[in-house]
Amino acid sequence: MKKKVVSVMLCVAMTAALMAGCGSSSTETTSEDTSAATEETEDTAAETEDAAEETADTAEADTEESAGGTLVMGTNAEFPPYEYYEGQEVVGIDAEMAAAVAEKLGMDLKIEDMAFDSLIPALSSGKVDIVAAGMTVTEDRLASVNFSDTYATGIQAIIVPEDSEITSADDLAGKTIGVQQGTTGDLYASDVEGATIERYAKGMEAVQSLSQGKIDAVIIDNEPANVFVSEVAGLKILDEAFATEDYAIAVAKDNEELLDQINTALAELKEDGTLQAIVDKYITAE
Ligand code: ARG
Repeated sequence: MKKKVVSVMLCVAMTAALMAGCGSSSTETTSEDTSAATEETEDTAAETEDAAEETADTAEADTEESAGGTLVMGTNAEFPPYEYYEGQEVVGIDAEMAAAVAEKLGMDLKIEDMAFDSLIPALSSGKVDIVAAGMTVTEDRLASVNFSDTYATGIQAIIVPEDSEITSADDLAGKTIGVQQGTTGDLYASDVEGATIERYAKGMEAVQSLSQGKIDAVIIDNEPANVFVSEVAGLKILDEAFATEDYAIAVAKDNEELLDQINTALAELKEDGTLQAIVDKYITAE
């Protein structure tokens, strides 16, 4: 598996330059290739780090198939640091975690990016095998899907302009609140007394709208909130948050076997530090 990923990576790298074919015969023949391969394979200490870095490549370069087949992950890649684009590639904590899970299952990972509120329908219709999208475990969702053991905690945060009169969740009453459609932020906002809800396809669109003065606040998960606020001037995150939530991988109701396999893989990835290494790569402690 490891070896194959390396050769796939090399092949991806080489394809750009040489337009070389990606067969299993793409062995390390040039000196450049050999040193790259050596770096990869000998670096066992940084194994988890490697696994993390290889994710996206594994997801993209599925020209070589594992005997175990392909694990299709649905996500909405508008949610840094959990999933977002780096060039043409979906990267982030969920992408790397799912790749590590797929590797444990002997499968290749393929990522399907779609609207957040299409994810559960995609799971139910069998278009995707799992959803890894910073998705919060909720009672409502549990009615249609199963969730794995939780792998992260999210906090619903409130973003406002720096000079806003809104200083707490209570002040949101009667205000116009932006959310990403179909998220728990959407649910919480919908409960706010007298509030008008503006629903956006992407969290970043809500944040941009906020910075243009079109809405009064945005309710969104804290990690993407941190990223968005760092990218858009004049905004801040309130100290008082809405709710603490658990993120988990969603699996179709009738797929208990996959759920068990994922939970086993997740437990191993927690135990051996891989999951923490992936998180640390994307979230630097403040
Ligand atoms: N945690 C929130 C929820 O489950 C937001 C998740 C949004 N994720 C995304 N990939 N856009 O509703």
